[in-house]
Formats: sequence, C-alpha cells, structure tokens
Amino acid sequence: MTQQKLTTPEELFHYQLRSARTMEDHSLEALDVLHGAAKDAKIKKLFSHHADETREQIAKLEQVFGLMGFDVTTAPSPSTTGISKQAESLLERSDAQLHDCVALASALGNEHFEISAYQGLILQAGSLGSADAAKLLEENLDQETHTSEELRAALQELLS
Ligand SMILES: [Fe+2]
Repeated sequence: MTQQKLTTPEELFHYQLRSARTMEDHSLEALDVLHGAAKDAKIKKLFSHHADETREQIAKLEQVFGLMGFDVTTAPSPSTTGISKQAESLLERSDAQLHDCVALASALGNEHFEISAYQGLILQAGSLGSADAAKLLEENLDQETHTSEELRAALQELLS
C-alpha cells in the first residue's frame, strides 16, 4: 500500500496527534508493567497516580481532536514501542532488587519523550491558530513535566 504523503502543516499535526494518542496508550501499558515490577510502595503509588493522570491526558487529547475537527484515530508510535521494549528487556535481565531503579529510570525516559512530543504539538497548535487546543496540550505537558521531576527525585532518593 502506498503511504499518503502529509502535505500541509495541519495534516502533519493531525498525524502527530494520532501518534500521541498511541503514545499515551503505550504509557498506560508501560505504567502497568512498571507498577508490577516495582517493589517499593511509594514508587508503586507514583506509577498508579500517573496512570490516572494518563487517562485524563487521553481524554484531553481526544478533546483536541474534536476542537480541530478531526476524527479520533491512532497512528504508530515506534519510539514509545521501543522505550517500552527496552524497559521490559532491562527488567528481564536484572535482579529483582534492582527493579525499583530500572522502573524509575525507564519511566523517566518515557516522560522525557512525552515532554518533547507535547512541546512540538503545542507550537503546532498555536501556529494553526488553535489556542484552545494548545491550552489542553499545555495541561498535559505540565503533568508530564511534574511527573518527570517526581521520578527523578524518587530515583535520587533511592540511590542516595
Ligand atoms: Fe502521558
């Protein structure tokens, strides 16, 4: 099948929004795996709290589709597929006593990817003239940034 080329900034934004929708599904799946792998109750709580936030982020992304007049569909997100695979492979090859460290570091990597995805989408939404879409995406970015800070602090505490 021939791939349809994206030819306008709006088509590019739509495609990347669809990939972001998949990215958040991958996050939910990964958070479930990391929650299962973590030993420390505080770390487990951090993952389950962010899973709740991720469900809110999915709802906001779907609102952005609506604001832009797009159908809610998904597109591949090979980067987050890879981040999840790397986390699972590192968990498999490490002792259970290292799993809190692996889980936090892997989640931190995922958050940083999500931060970059939202930073791009916010600028694109602004440039397409949708301040409302940009605002919703900013709310997601703020949660990802906050989570990345919490993960980093938890990792620092674990390793000190
Ligand atoms: Fe997220």
